[in-house]
Amino acid sequence: MPVPLLDLRAQHETIRDEVVGALMDVVDSQKFILGEPVERLERAVADLSGTAHAIGCANGTDALLIAMRALDIGRGDEVITTPFTFFATAGTIHNVGATPVFVDIDPETLNVSPNAIKAAITPRTRAVIPVDLFGQIAPLEEVAAIAGAIPVIEDAAQSIGARRKIGGAWKMAGEHPTIGTFSFFPSKNLGGYGDGGMIVTQSDELATRMRRIRVHGGARQYYHDEVGYNSRLDALQAAVLLAKLPHLERWSARRRENAAFYTTALGGVGDVRPVTIDPANESIFNQYTIRTSKRDALQKHLAGKGIGTAIYYPLPLHLQPCFAYLGYAKGSMPVSERAAGEVLSLPVFPELTEAQRDEVVEGVRSFFDGGSR
Ligand SMILES: Cc1ncc(COP(=O)(O)O)c(C=O)c1O
Repeated sequence: MPVPLLDLRAQHETIRDEVVGALMDVVDSQKFILGEPVERLERAVADLSGTAHAIGCANGTDALLIAMRALDIGRGDEVITTPFTFFATAGTIHNVGATPVFVDIDPETLNVSPNAIKAAITPRTRAVIPVDLFGQIAPLEEVAAIAGAIPVIEDAAQSIGARRKIGGAWKMAGEHPTIGTFSFFPSKNLGGYGDGGMIVTQSDELATRMRRIRVHGGARQYYHDEVGYNSRLDALQAAVLLAKLPHLERWSARRRENAAFYTTALGGVGDVRPVTIDPANESIFNQYTIRTSKRDALQKHLAGKGIGTAIYYPLPLHLQPCFAYLGYAKGSMPVSERAAGEVLSLPVFPELTEAQRDEVVEGVRSFFDGGSR
């Protein structure tokens, strides 16, 4: 039985009527840009995230761009982040004219290492961007303590609805930092039927500025206080996301169940070990990722059985050709480089059946039982 890495059609079948009804309401209204559904979604995401403000935008990449522009980050500035993330985290730093400063990650969680951030801060550091990799929140309280007055932008593209115990209280993804950014790319736990993004903050001032930057930098139409972007969230995406939002908690809980199942079932199989979840975190498992020294051969073996997997991420960002100008040598981020050679994400989507889960486990076991590996 083939097992895809992600089966969006299986999810769509369960919510088809709700989503199509919501889409048709927008079609009938003929109001496609921002408007009422976007405002309702902004309110709902702010409530979910425990933030005062949420601002819809075109995608998670623009959310990072707008956040940095609102903090006046540009030429001559440095922004510290992890090299073990999706490209957008660092591409946007470059695109606002600033210099990405990469620091290595924690060998257990693969999230950014707070101590490494400490060593990289200079008088030119204007922000730190921790990423909630695979759905578990980065150690934001430690990052904030080290950053002091330097703003923290939480790249929460993969972690909407995740929580972390900070100072004895649960904090939602996006709640703790200066600014949090979400992506509604279809493969995210809350995915649209196209691109979408959201920015959250507790700051009234930053919210006002980010709303302005989202629509060409003008609070009033045709009057521009600064040069912004066209990064509006469209009403059709907001309608889909509003229809899906009530299911998010259940879907993420189901992902957690699948993850727990794999962790038990794969214990002691070859040299497989899952990426560690910090006990302070409740992950939403946007990905369930294992590590093994035989990663490439295992992936091939599973592909032969029709089991979909993915490597997030095969080449850390400090070694990407486009960042050669930054001058990072191979070996300069050993933890990230090692992880890039060992990680493999398995199917963990909420609609995964028990038979499919068993198939994945059997696929991994049969590889290591093969002997010669
Ligand atoms: C960590 C991270 N940052 C940023 C993004 C960018 O989001 P988008 O694809 O919506 O632009 C993504 C997802 O694609 C991501 O995983």
